[in-house]
Amino acid sequence: MAKIIVIAQLKGGVGKSTLATNLAAYLAQNFRVGLIDADLPQGTSSQWAALRDDPNIIVLGCESAAQVAAAAEQLDGQCDVIVMDLPPRSVKFLREAMAISDLLLLPLTASAPDIWATESVMELVKECKKTNSRLTTRLVWNRLRATRATADFLDGTAKALRAKELSSHLSLRTAYVECIGRGLYVEEWHDPRAKAECRVLLKQVMKQIKLKEPDFSAG
Ligand SMILES: Nc1ncnc2c1ncn2[C@@H]1O[C@H](COP(=O)(O)OP(=O)(O)OP(=O)(O)O)[C@@H](O)[C@H]1O
Ligand SMILES: [Mg+2]
Repeated sequence: MAKIIVIAQLKGGVGKSTLATNLAAYLAQNFRVGLIDADLPQGTSSQWAALRDDPNIIVLGCESAAQVAAAAEQLDGQCDVIVMDLPPRSVKFLREAMAISDLLLLPLTASAPDIWATESVMELVKECKKTNSRLTTRLVWNRLRATRATADFLDGTAKALRAKELSSHLSLRTAYVECIGRGLYVEEWHDPRAKAECRVLLKQVMKQIKLKEPDFSAG
C-alpha cells in the first residue's frame, strides 16, 4: 500500500503547492511518487510537474471530491508514496482525502486568518479520526521571518490549536518562488539555507510515514 500524504488548508495561498511540489521532488529521488493535483483548473502542481518531467513522478488530476479515493487507488500499485495537493476552501475535498491518508500536513503562516482556518480544519480532523485512526496531522509553519514577533506568535499556538507541529519550518525565501515556476525544487537552487531547512523537514515527514530517511551526507 502506498503511503498517502495530503497537503491541505481551508485558506488559500498558504504554501500547499510549494510544499507538495518540493516534497514530491525530494521523495522521487528514492521512491515512485504519485502526485494528485486536486486543485484544478488552477493546476499549480501539474504545471510544475509538466515543466519538471520527472520519470519518478506520476501526475494525476482530480476534478471532484468524489474522485479522490479512486485517484489514489489508481496510483496505489504504481507508487510508494502519494502526495495530494488540495484546493483551498473545500471541506468536501478535505474530508475525502483525510479518510484515506496517513499524514495530513497543514501549512500555515504566522497570521491570525491562518490560525482561524486551522481551527476549522482541526475540528474536521477530530471527526475524521473516528473512522481513520491511521491519520497523523502536523502543522507546517511557512513563510516565517526570523523575528522576535514571529517567535512570540508561534509560542504556544500549536498547543492552543490542539495540534502538533513539525519542529522544522519553511522561511520566507525567494528560492521557493523561483523554483516552482521553473519545475525545480530547492535542492536544485542556489540557496543553502532553503536546502537545509527542506532537508530537515523532509526527514521529519519521512519519520511520520515510517519510510527510510534520505541520506544527504554525499551532497
Ligand atoms: N516559504 C516561502 N517563501 C516565499 N514565498 C513562498 C513561500 N511559500 C510559498 N510562497 C509563495 O506564496 C505563493 C502561494 O504559495 P502556494 O501556491 O504554494 O500556496 P497554495 O496554498 O498552494 O495556494 P492556493 O491556495 O492558491 O493553491 C506562491 O507565489 C509561492 O511561490
Ligand atoms: Mg496551490
